Amino acid sequence: MKAPHRLQVLIDEGLIDDVLRQLMSGKEANVYVVRCGTEVRCAKIYKDATERSFRQAVDYTENRKVKNSRQARAMAKGTKFGREATEAAWQSAEVDALYRLAAAGVRVPKPYNFYEGVLLMELVTDAEGAAAPRLNDCDFSAEDARAHHASLLREVLRMLLAGIVHGDLSEFNVLLGSDDAGLPCPVIIDLPQAVDAAGNNHAQRMLLRDVGNLRAFFGRFAPDLLATNYGPEIWDLYRSGVLQEGSTLTGRFETTSGVVDLGSVLEGIADARAEEAARRLRMGD
Ligand SMILES: Nc1ncnc2c1ncn2[C@@H]1O[C@H](COP(=O)(O)OP(=O)(O)OP(=O)(O)O)[C@@H](O)[C@H]1O
Ligand SMILES: [Mg+2]
Repeated sequence: MKAPHRLQVLIDEGLIDDVLRQLMSGKEANVYVVRCGTEVRCAKIYKDATERSFRQAVDYTENRKVKNSRQARAMAKGTKFGREATEAAWQSAEVDALYRLAAAGVRVPKPYNFYEGVLLMELVTDAEGAAAPRLNDCDFSAEDARAHHASLLREVLRMLLAGIVHGDLSEFNVLLGSDDAGLPCPVIIDLPQAVDAAGNNHAQRMLLRDVGNLRAFFGRFAPDLLATNYGPEIWDLYRSGVLQEGSTLTGRFETTSGVVDLGSVLEGIADARAEEAARRLRMGD
């Protein structure tokens, strides 16, 4: 096909040789299948902030790493330079997270390059070599649902050990790829909103939501999963500094009743308000 102009620069630079087809047009990016030498890869072109929904509006960008304090001030003020810096931080967050997670052994597409707002990465494929479906497009037996749920919880745990909370983990952002033996295997994608587990005040809430989304989805096929409570258990181990690769998880968690921490309750309410405001913004209210 004729290359879209955003990919032409990568062709000119020799990073890709051919654009084979468009894979998806998402809310925040357009995704293409491209050829690089003998390999078929995936190119994700980020849309400009104005065309995008507002996932980065409120809480995700907190504590984003920026180069220097001038940049941080400009971002806080919302100047043109600041908006560009915010934009660059948003886009590069995904490639940074992919490199960190791939190094930590989390199943994510292997990143190759990030150039001019385009992320080049491994194309996740099924056993036949076709682009992998999203979990949402698949049906599972109760047994497979339990197995995939368990393996994704391990991935969440590994991400947390690498200091990252996905922040938008759901059946729409996990692909069913295949492992070396050709068996179906979940691969986590779509990470521009990933947050720093230790430095972002919303990390706990996002982790609980991510884990809750997995439970709700796989619970459709294996209703026994609906009674589990892995999120608070994982966060509690993490917060206590004892979370490890091999930590045993039970899915049970007792919340201790005691003195109410009014500050954190109010913070939770403010969080929910901000999230609702972002949602309305996204819906165009
Ligand atoms: N590495 C990949 N390999 C195969 N398919 C991919 C890959 N990355 C993205 N896709 C496909 O492109 C779609 C959109 O990608 P992604 O979720 O990263 O972008 P998005 O703009 O946030 O999309 P959405 O708004 O649908 O969440 C995915 O649902 C998936 O089908
Ligand atoms: Mg997505």
